[in-house]
Amino acid sequence: MSQREVLVDVLRRLSDPDDLGAKEAAQKLVTEVDPLELSLAEQQLVDEGTRPEELRHLCAIHLEVLGDQIQDFRAQLPPAHPLRTLMLEHEKLLGFLAELEDVNARIQASEPAPQDLELLRAIADNLIDGNKHHQREEDVLFPAMEELGITGPPRIMRLEHDMLKARKARLQELLSKQMDLQEFRKELAGLAAFIVFNLRDHIFKEDSILYPAAWRTITSKAEWERIREECDRIGYCSFTPMG
Ligand SMILES: [Fe+2]
Ligand SMILES: [Fe+2]
Repeated sequence: MSQREVLVDVLRRLSDPDDLGAKEAAQKLVTEVDPLELSLAEQQLVDEGTRPEELRHLCAIHLEVLGDQIQDFRAQLPPAHPLRTLMLEHEKLLGFLAELEDVNARIQASEPAPQDLELLRAIADNLIDGNKHHQREEDVLFPAMEELGITGPPRIMRLEHDMLKARKARLQELLSKQMDLQEFRKELAGLAAFIVFNLRDHIFKEDSILYPAAWRTITSKAEWERIREECDRIGYCSFTPMG
């Protein structure tokens, strides 16, 4: 079976509540398959029409298995290290995504409350402010990795930034327009689903694959200092926790 077929099979089993061995099979899959391969296979399924929600059981298991590793990795980074700052920003971004998921569910279910529309605006602003985070990656971290021969993952991450940037801008635009409620709900649901799924997945790939690869490959202290100065020059997000 190809990687994708194995994945499809595991997803099918996970959606069957009577399949008691499904969770174990999924755990085996996420520990044995290269995380990058897995996320590419997931992406392919979504492109072929699988609804992102159908992947959520697998994502949860994936997070369970790799979550500890991500925490261990972060714990070894010195304070104010550029990767540490990026990871702390990821945590904030994940919080905005959880809020986006909730507020979208409320707006889909009932007449939008003014405070929910306010909240949605604040979330959209914060997500757009997160472009500074992506810019530090694209202009400083990725080139430093590419210089050392790691070219594949940064290329994929750049493509994902572009896809997300367009959707975030559209979300902000949507909130400044007068439009029919049904139409608004429909577009909001699509944008929220896309942004929540893809930004979570993106953050997960960076935390579990790309940043550890950067940490292993960039071994010079002076190079990390240069990276940090360049990042300082680009600047931080309004929500960046410093320290
Ligand atoms: Fe990124
Ligand atoms: Fe990132």
